[in-house]
Amino acid sequence: MTSAVISVDYEQPVSGAACDTRHAWARVPAEPSPDEREALKSRIRRLLRERNAVMVSHYYVHPDLQDLAEETGGIVSDSLEMARFGRDHPARTLVVSGVRFMGETAKILSPEKRVLMPDPDATCSLDLGCPAEAFSAFCDQHPDRTVVVYANTSAAVKARADWLVTSSCALDVVGALHAQGRKILWAPDRHLGDYIRRETGADMLSWDGACIVHDEFKALELELLIEAHPGAKVLVHPESPAPVIALADAVGSTSGILAAAQRMDAREFIVATDTGLLHKLRTLNPGKTFIEAPTAGNGATCKSCAHCPWMAMNGLAGLARVLETGEGEVHVDAALGLRARVPIDRMLAFTAGLKKGLPAGSLVTGIGAA
Ligand code: 13P
Ligand code: SF4
Repeated sequence: MTSAVISVDYEQPVSGAACDTRHAWARVPAEPSPDEREALKSRIRRLLRERNAVMVSHYYVHPDLQDLAEETGGIVSDSLEMARFGRDHPARTLVVSGVRFMGETAKILSPEKRVLMPDPDATCSLDLGCPAEAFSAFCDQHPDRTVVVYANTSAAVKARADWLVTSSCALDVVGALHAQGRKILWAPDRHLGDYIRRETGADMLSWDGACIVHDEFKALELELLIEAHPGAKVLVHPESPAPVIALADAVGSTSGILAAAQRMDAREFIVATDTGLLHKLRTLNPGKTFIEAPTAGNGATCKSCAHCPWMAMNGLAGLARVLETGEGEVHVDAALGLRARVPIDRMLAFTAGLKKGLPAGSLVTGIGAA
């Protein structure tokens, strides 16, 4: 696969420091005491009712924010279903616990609703690593390619795309485009792009971004862990490096990993994704054991330790504060939002069409460079 000419640092590593995402880690809220936790939860339950609001949480955020979302009629899910749920729910306010692109997507799909985030500065290394201007110039250099971007991007990058995908529908969308002879320009995750290219055989020119969480999984150490747990099945998110994916028994998005763990009859699983997903994995599979895949090897630095610092910025206190004060509102320029909405709507229509049994080819015809 050809790589883009540009690679972007996220936050410059500090020499000798163990972690180069220190600004995000510094914003991670302290764990509340049991009494504080209960008080915050009841305050949030009351505010959700008073503000006609619903919680939309990602699987990687703190278990408190996952459980409270479900308990109060909201959702905990992957980024695709978060977008769909927020669009379809009648509440006037959506409280999105996750990272900024998820809040922006919710706002783009529901401009009439108020979208709040416990900390709207929570971002994503993929979003940071794909600045819109440079990306647009990259697209301009390759007008013969259909532009497919990952959901983990800014509204401005989405506005430049023909198609948006999440990891749960990327293979289907690119596979259908490839079957129609399209050449793809892909951004921003190089590992996911490489995985899709290997699986579909599509001609893909890729941006050079990475997720700081999944990029850290180590194949050599994973092999040692597999030797120590010979009966365990290995579940891997496709943002991981190719040698890690090669060791997987199942590769999938967060919801794909959950489905695989429920489907497979093994007792033990090694999981290469953000540790936030372990909460749901363990709740849904009480008889099964889930082991974190290794992120540290010889000479490794730990940027994430398998947990996204930006996801970790979401907490109960922040959520209560933004519901109370209206701070933390996500704004997207209206004209930009209209342009960014086009590929998001296509993705939602594509996945809805697939669910109805429509052929994938019929769902991509006529969209993007021929
Ligand atoms: P999903 O689309 O699988 O929820 O993943 C989002 C994400 O940020 C993965 O790191
Ligand atoms: Fe971005 Fe990775 Fe965090 Fe997901 S886990 S939000 S891809 S940095």
